[in-house]
Amino acid sequence: MDETDHSEMKEMEENSTEEAPSEENPAEPNPTEEAPAEQSEVEQEPAEQKSRKPVVAGNWKMFKTRDEAQDTVRELVGLVGNIQTVDTIVCPPFTALSAVEEVLAGSIVELGAQNVHWKDEGPFTGEVSVAMLADGGCRYVIIGHSERRHYFHESDEVIQDKLERVFSSELVPILCIGESLEAREADRVEEVILGQLERALRELTDPQTSRIIIAYEPVWAIGTGRTATPEIAEKVHFLIRNWLSDHCSTGIADQVRILYGGSVSPENASQLMAQENIDGFLVGGASLDAQSFAKIVQQSS
Ligand code: PGA
Repeated sequence: MDETDHSEMKEMEENSTEEAPSEENPAEPNPTEEAPAEQSEVEQEPAEQKSRKPVVAGNWKMFKTRDEAQDTVRELVGLVGNIQTVDTIVCPPFTALSAVEEVLAGSIVELGAQNVHWKDEGPFTGEVSVAMLADGGCRYVIIGHSERRHYFHESDEVIQDKLERVFSSELVPILCIGESLEAREADRVEEVILGQLERALRELTDPQTSRIIIAYEPVWAIGTGRTATPEIAEKVHFLIRNWLSDHCSTGIADQVRILYGGSVSPENASQLMAQENIDGFLVGGASLDAQSFAKIVQQSS
């Protein structure tokens, strides 16, 4: 990362009065807070047609009862049910999966889960297996979200095991990686991102890697209203794609969809989406509201 990144970061920091999240203290999600529109030198342009189909996934975290979940997806399907050019995914909490599946039946909006265990079955109180998710109608599963890494102490080894298990099924993993604010300020973005990538993917075969969706989510941007500027995000997405090209093949690098996550909103989605290597979003807070999530999907199409 060069000097410019740091000055952009500093600017974002100075404009914010909130406490910075860190590996020790990631930000609490605050879905009701509007993310401020980011100042950026990038012109607001409609997303260019890319060869990779965009993905927009909503991570609902620990929000919504079954009724609330059904109301939200009913509204969402009404708003984006015709958008065939984007893979739109919702990831409700486990308890609402079947309720959401009922509403999604026959629609193009797909279902994902937020977590999965790395074993097929067994005495693991409170855990859910790959087969259970597939049985519950899920096609996708989020792996290694920074909140799982931090609050539930998921190591890179655990994430690797989960990925391996997911690949024994038809589920598609959405692998999250991202650096803390400390790492960014210490100029360690490349080391952290490529380290997480290498440790997660090293046991995978090329066909497995080509199926994966990667979400770059800088920890300091999650739930804070501080989005990475399009330039900051694009640099890391480029880094990830380059790594895939060097360690797998250019074909795989061209194919893998790399999402950005961290305070994505209807205000910043199109600028981010205009970047060459950003193929969509993993959205937290803004996905809880059907209207704002739909706007993000529309801007990604
Ligand atoms: P956010 O969350 O959009 O609320 O920042 C993103 C995520 O945690 O995936």
